[in-house]
Amino acid sequence: MRVLGIETSCDETAAAIVDTTGDQSRPWAVRSNVIASQAEIHREWGGVVPEIASRQHLADICGVVERALGDAGAVPGDIDAVAVTQGPGLVGALLIGVSFAKAFAAARGIPVIPVHHIAGHIESLVLEHGEMPLPAVVLVVSGGHTSLYFVPAQGTYQLIGQTRDDAAGEAYDKVAKMLGLGYPGGPVVDKLAQTGRDDAVKLPLPRFTRPDRNPGEITAEAGAFAPAVLSMAEFSFSGLKSAAVRLIDAQGARNVADFCASFQRVVVTTLVDRLFGVALALGARSVGIAGGVSANSRLRRDAAARGQREGIPVFVPPLSLSTDNAAMIAAAGLRRLATAGAGSLQFNAQAAMPVMPPADGARP
Ligand code: KG4
Ligand code: ZN
Repeated sequence: MRVLGIETSCDETAAAIVDTTGDQSRPWAVRSNVIASQAEIHREWGGVVPEIASRQHLADICGVVERALGDAGAVPGDIDAVAVTQGPGLVGALLIGVSFAKAFAAARGIPVIPVHHIAGHIESLVLEHGEMPLPAVVLVVSGGHTSLYFVPAQGTYQLIGQTRDDAAGEAYDKVAKMLGLGYPGGPVVDKLAQTGRDDAVKLPLPRFTRPDRNPGEITAEAGAFAPAVLSMAEFSFSGLKSAAVRLIDAQGARNVADFCASFQRVVVTTLVDRLFGVALALGARSVGIAGGVSANSRLRRDAAARGQREGIPVFVPPLSLSTDNAAMIAAAGLRRLATAGAGSLQFNAQAAMPVMPPADGARP
């Protein structure tokens, strides 16, 4: 089977062709993976401008799909199904991909599979490494998300907990902006951090010392996880971000590399500690890290070392699949096709959506 994946949830217009292999342990193969990044366009504004993003998707989508077909040596008649990001994301941006996918599928008389963006990030791990030992705990960490998912079975993604406020990538982007390092900030901060001392600047480790005050919203399915697991699966980066911003305001970053290294130590330590704490508590047989921030060099290194110590294999996507791309969306579409079926054309772009619909009666 040959699937065309489409991703337009934020500022990347992406299309990819993914084939099934017939091999159960490595079920999918990437035939092409084309990404037109709008980063240059949004850089001028210091962040993604939704209306500009939508218009750029519209300008780019046809060319990106043609290129994905060409790179795979395919023609439209070779495609058996289209998988597209339904949400979450910028609704105007999502609409471009969803409309294109529906039109392509309707014209060819093939199914269109709506995909959750996070399911795509999680399946990027399988796309690269083959099936993970289950159950798995996966950290999805990007500019928009810092969330932990439990994957008890193929195609089942249960949200355990997420950030109460900012995403880790957002904190990177904000700190980079304050330091005048441009947008997106993660890659630059990561690079500078490699030459700095990570204990040079004192920044607070995010902690929830008073769970009775300002409790986070419980996002997991009611009763699915023990309270101790739920509290371990929460993140908060706004305090760290404010502390970093205050320090920069007060004294400037005297040594930018030291500042970046110290900030990176705090973020990565928090992510790795919580990921493994939850994985051990849930008896996970593997852990994964996906999303844009999984490209971070220290996060990869520290997680690999911790996995080795704990005897849990660690899965991370290659750089080409860590930031937003359509190969992961095609993979998640194939997963959904295998586990739940394609569904109908009666779906629309959705800015916010749960990765799994709540079980009957579990929530209003
Ligand atoms: O997954 P992604 O491409 O888009 C979202 O869904 O948000 O992630 C983009 C985020 C940005 O915040 C960017 O600064 C961050 O990933 N990022 C990194 C690194 N590379 C990208 N953060 C830390 N270290 C990196 N090497
Ligand atoms: Zn993403």
